[in-house]
Amino acid sequence: MAQPKIILTGDRPTGRLHLGHYVGSLRRRVELQNSGEFDKIFILIADAQALTDNAANPEKVRQNIIEVALDYLSVGIDPAKSHIFIQSQIPQLAELTVYYMNLVTVARLERNPTVKSEVKMRGFNTGIPTGFFTYPISQAADITAFNGTVVPAGEDQEPMIEQTREIVRKFNSTYDEVLVEPSILLPDNKSCLRLPGTDGNAKMSKSLGNAIYLADSPAEVERKIKGMYTDPTHLKVEDPGHIEGNTVFTYLDAFSTDQDFADFLPEYKNLDEMKEHYQRGGLGDMKCKRFLIKVVERMLTPIRERRAQYEQDIPGVYEILRQGTAAAEAEAAQTLARVKAAMKIDYFNDGALMKEQIEKYSK
Ligand code: TRP
Repeated sequence: MAQPKIILTGDRPTGRLHLGHYVGSLRRRVELQNSGEFDKIFILIADAQALTDNAANPEKVRQNIIEVALDYLSVGIDPAKSHIFIQSQIPQLAELTVYYMNLVTVARLERNPTVKSEVKMRGFNTGIPTGFFTYPISQAADITAFNGTVVPAGEDQEPMIEQTREIVRKFNSTYDEVLVEPSILLPDNKSCLRLPGTDGNAKMSKSLGNAIYLADSPAEVERKIKGMYTDPTHLKVEDPGHIEGNTVFTYLDAFSTDQDFADFLPEYKNLDEMKEHYQRGGLGDMKCKRFLIKVVERMLTPIRERRAQYEQDIPGVYEILRQGTAAAEAEAAQTLARVKAAMKIDYFNDGALMKEQIEKYSK
């Protein structure tokens, strides 16, 4: 039988999702979901992972589960096609993590570049929580529990997938061929790999206050885009401008289409023509920003409308999560059973072991 194609991906519920999430992964998930090419799709709300650096702040995680669920539904994740589920409600994930921990060295975790940079960013002044340090292992459990073959995610997740693949190989060679090696599916547009914040900082994040959220109102979007970082040397409209590192153009790279030009800025056929004019001089930042506002609004309007509908039915959203979680648990339970059988630690279902020991003691 051909390997089933299974998507597993997710996000930490530490805040609402923003445009970086959208271009880095959400948009792709919806396309893949609607392509009909996948046998199963699991979307995880990684609350247990969020707690690894929020131990004292479970309320933040608790409040953001519904926010992330609303964001998922509003971008078009369809619960009839994709199981949306809550990580902490699946005990099998914690069990798998414990067994995988034996297959990973401390030195290997210390080398994980994403963990390294996150540790640096967070500055943990009383030391790194063990749960945080080991979260790549728990993420390997998230992926393998569902036999995930494809993980649509941003480039910061690459080291996690690599580490997962190593765990899979190690498990399979140590015990038995049970686990499936996943691969990451990165955005194909380079500017979508990591969308910068509105201030030009490499990362869009809540803590830096430089994010545009999917749920932002039109007034908020307008205010944030108007205040966006551009080219500090582009002082007068006539001055030649720079595209590189110019956040407005990075966003246009990520979002604008030729149709947007036809509808909102027909003096250019496409982004290349607009860039040329900017670099030559004579194109003002405000004009670029006003175009970007229209591009982003065209994209966010249907998302906002869908969100407003789901916000009117919070019990319905919880029901979606409950059903998604039940489906996910059934799947994870099957994998855990196979893992335990391969490790030969399912003692109460192990007839061979019983027989062996009866013989041993009947001599
Ligand atoms: N690490 C991801 C994030 O920071 C969340 C996540 C947890 C995840 N488990 C996953 C992503 C499994 C992809 C696959 O948002």
